Amino acid sequence: MKNLIEFTNVVKKFDDKVVLNDISLWVKEGKTLAIVGFSGSGKSTVLKIISGLLKQDSGNIFLGDDNIGMVFQYSALFDSLNIFDNIAFALKERKDFKNKYSTKELKEIVKEKLKTVGLEEIEDKYPSELSGGMKKRVSFARTIVTNPKIILYDEPTAGLDPVSSTVIEDYIVCLKEETKAASIVVTHQMSTIQRTADDVIMLYEGKIVWKGKPKEMLTTDNPYAYQFVNAKREGPMLTTAGK
Ligand SMILES: Nc1ncnc2c1ncn2[C@@H]1O[C@H](COP(=O)(O)OP(=O)(O)OP(=O)(O)O)[C@@H](O)[C@H]1O
Ligand SMILES: [Mg+2]
Repeated sequence: MKNLIEFTNVVKKFDDKVVLNDISLWVKEGKTLAIVGFSGSGKSTVLKIISGLLKQDSGNIFLGDDNIGMVFQYSALFDSLNIFDNIAFALKERKDFKNKYSTKELKEIVKEKLKTVGLEEIEDKYPSELSGGMKKRVSFARTIVTNPKIILYDEPTAGLDPVSSTVIEDYIVCLKEETKAASIVVTHQMSTIQRTADDVIMLYEGKIVWKGKPKEMLTTDNPYAYQFVNAKREGPMLTTAGK
């Protein structure tokens, strides 16, 4: 299996603040890497660099495919567009897909992608008519509509109840198996780490302070991972909420 995502000694600064400090990581096709860490530790910055929204200051980035899908924090659906138009958006607007499909084909693709995330016949509804969990699933459908080989999830289960979280976690695993994409899941949630990830890295102040398998995270005596897993105020990490 080949690497679809590779960071080598990546550094990213905002003004004088070093947000990613010499980060190396890789994700192979069909694998999921969870990135965990407190608020402000640089997790979203990693995703933004991969998706081309930001550029690193130094270090190398290799991407084995340029078809990248991102599931944004808070679903980020367009409120004024119905579900069909939200999902078909990339196919209508991205220049590599524009005019490739007829309206009939678009309808079929949208229907199929909605089915993949367990939804049917909601094409005419608007985001405000859906629950948080359904919106998340619609945002998944929107992301996979272009069949990306790299899928990035920014806190996909944040704000969801435990059962809705499980549904989303199952879809992340399902999509991985179906598409063989390389995925990165940024999350704070232990259930999401345990259910979806093959490997985990933990960031603190721009550095990787722990990496291992999801199960190892539960038993390691690494002080950073221990503090995170057990939600301890005492430990090497300070949150932005203070100690
Ligand atoms: N465009 C920007 N300009 C300046 N500083 C930024 C910018 N984007 C992020 N930062 C800073 O970089 C740091 C890391 O941000 P990032 O969004 O990657 O954190 P995060 O780990 O995703 O946090 P959270 O869990 O709150 O989403 C933060 O201190 C943030 O304030
Ligand atoms: Mg973030």
